[in-house]
Amino acid sequence: MRKNNLTRRKFLASASTGTLAAFASGGIPVYGIINKKASTLAILGGQPIREKPFPRWPIINETDEKMVLSALRSGKWSRGELVAKVEKRVTKYLGSRCGMLTGSGTQALHTSLHTLGIGGGDEVITTPYTFIATIDVILLEDALPVFADVDPETFMIDADKIEEKITEHTRSILPVHITGGVSNMDKINAVAKKHNLKVVEDACQAILAEWRGKKVGTLSDLGCFSFQNSKDLTCGEGGIILGDDQKIIDRCYSFHNFGRPQGKYMSRDKYSYPILGLKYRTMSLNAALLDAQMNRVEEQCKKRSENADYLTSKLNEVPCILPRKDYPETTRTSYYTYAFRYKKEHFNNLPRAKFLSALKAEGIPCGFGLGVIGPTSMPMNKEGAIIDALNSKSFKKIYSKNRLNRYHEQNHCPESDKMCQEVAGFSQRLLLGTKKDMDDIANAILKVYENRDKLT
Ligand SMILES: Cc1ncc(COP(=O)(O)O)c(C=O)c1O
Repeated sequence: MRKNNLTRRKFLASASTGTLAAFASGGIPVYGIINKKASTLAILGGQPIREKPFPRWPIINETDEKMVLSALRSGKWSRGELVAKVEKRVTKYLGSRCGMLTGSGTQALHTSLHTLGIGGGDEVITTPYTFIATIDVILLEDALPVFADVDPETFMIDADKIEEKITEHTRSILPVHITGGVSNMDKINAVAKKHNLKVVEDACQAILAEWRGKKVGTLSDLGCFSFQNSKDLTCGEGGIILGDDQKIIDRCYSFHNFGRPQGKYMSRDKYSYPILGLKYRTMSLNAALLDAQMNRVEEQCKKRSENADYLTSKLNEVPCILPRKDYPETTRTSYYTYAFRYKKEHFNNLPRAKFLSALKAEGIPCGFGLGVIGPTSMPMNKEGAIIDALNSKSFKKIYSKNRLNRYHEQNHCPESDKMCQEVAGFSQRLLLGTKKDMDDIANAILKVYENRDKLT
């Protein structure tokens, strides 16, 4: 088995254009599977491409343990000096003038929209290809999420489709740097400027990604990140808001701290409540963990990028697998998932779920991509959360029947619908492996492709 694997890897490492052209033309490439047993799909009883697990996530070492223990022993577990110190470190590292930690990315987004004054009757233009939290926070402010369809190649909001969605009610644009790529911020900021709209970046999946050499989250009015367990920088649960304007960040701070005064402009006594607020604070224990994880984030991001580039070079010429692309202005991609479109027409119409099961049996875990965590492929702009909010008492009071009807009529994003059926993705942790691990991924895809007739 080892020998045959090597043969296969060697092929992949040196595959000639001719071989790949044969593959592209729909023919099965001849690439050295001589041993019939080795070529039998694992899902059909053959030997898997690999049995070794991929790197686990999150990764901790002794420094993490020491730093968390020290925070634990301090007895100051709530927001305190340590949180402020880590807040400064992360803010500076992400290239922002001001920033404040929150308990999660959702809290960062909610705080941002509320602080920018988004409320009942307003419209926020966003992408349907996102995680539900992006949409929830708009609805929780009693505003309407208006969906502009996605760019099928980059998976980001199609910036050319934003302007046609602007109405007299539009107040903000909320682009999402999904899977670790970057939305077209030049176009988004230009439209926002023309129509006097606020821009909030949902950068929850894109730590360290860059547009024209500037880090995401610093390209607009406010930028929000998540440090939830699966993210490329994590402390279990956490988030941060970045911004240039100290007054706005102070107001965000106040909102996330029961509305207590913060900063010079709110000079009332510490325990008064001049504005409405919630409690969205970070714990010191999380901050300690974040501090420790920060020590490795750069190196891990580099590793993911190197492996992703290598994997793309293997998969680029395979017509059935179309990796997500970046805009030319994206100077750095961070990989939360390595996302691609699975073109089942090149796989004898083998359903995506069966393709993923076959890959899993080969030892390669692969998810349904984003927006589609389970096998239902429900586009986010059609989710029950939206229907539920629109049917609520407050929405019915704020919005006329006509407006809500119009909203439903216009809520169509065919490109996103298609993506929900096609996209799959490898978790960022797989990209922390070796080049050989990437070869295994490519080999497994080729093996399933080669045996596609046996699965349909
Ligand atoms: C695009 C996006 N936005 C928002 C969030 C919410 O972040 P959190 O889970 O930290 O609340 C996530 C988390 O997965 C996300 O992926």
